[in-house]
Amino acid sequence: MATFEFDIRHLFPQPIVKVTSTLLPHTFHGQQQQALEATAKISAIIDRLGELSANAQKLNKPITTAQKLRQSDNQVVYLMADVAKGSERGDEVVGLLKIGTKDLYLFDELGQARKVDNVPCILDFYIHDSRQRMGLGKKLFETMLNEEKWNPVKCSVDRPSEKLLGFLKKHYGLERAIPQANHFVLYDGFFEHEKSSEKVTELTRSRRMLMTNRYF
Ligand code: ACO
Repeated sequence: MATFEFDIRHLFPQPIVKVTSTLLPHTFHGQQQQALEATAKISAIIDRLGELSANAQKLNKPITTAQKLRQSDNQVVYLMADVAKGSERGDEVVGLLKIGTKDLYLFDELGQARKVDNVPCILDFYIHDSRQRMGLGKKLFETMLNEEKWNPVKCSVDRPSEKLLGFLKKHYGLERAIPQANHFVLYDGFFEHEKSSEKVTELTRSRRMLMTNRYF
């Protein structure tokens, strides 16, 4: 269980909070001393969940640590807690989702290499083992998509596990991956916008020609 010796309630005024390099929940308001305490607690939570995620994925070391987040300028960790109101059960942190953007060299469906800047990336995702397959992952992921204004088909996924592949297929119909030379997985539709804007340009061009033919 991801329970902690300290009270997590004031860190989670809502079930999901967003943490950036400040290591403070986005909902935080307070003085310097309170900020220091909150930072220490959030760091402990991120480190523990990062470790549990690494164990679940059988990795040698965690992908997510408070120190790595502190040093990043474009990564965000979403934390999900179950703060049981008035219950005997201890409050638990049940999930972590780390995202960020990266400039990547990618292959499109035709096998052509492209450099794409600021690609939305799913970097680490974990729901506590005792709470998986109950829809919590979907809740956390949806919150992130809404918050970041991201579209799942436009996301790349860093070394997805079988469970995550199943999750993306089930909830977002993502199935057909475009083969890549690196460890990121992207899906059919990732390059769709560029194609449709090419189509729009093409359409605009033929309309212009039509108008040109008609009036001159
Ligand atoms: N076996 C197979 N598929 C699974 C499993 C499992 N044990 N658990 C979840 N899934 C997939 C299935 O598609 C499942 O649907 P189903 O139950 O109808 O088969 C769906 O996810 C369930 O959706 P949610 O309940 O919303 O997802 P959940 O809360 O379980 O969270 C997550 C999904 C985060 C992948 C979770 O299973 C987990 O933490 N797994 C262990 C760590 C992990 O593999 N993380 C991804 C690493 S890769 C990366 O982060 C880039």
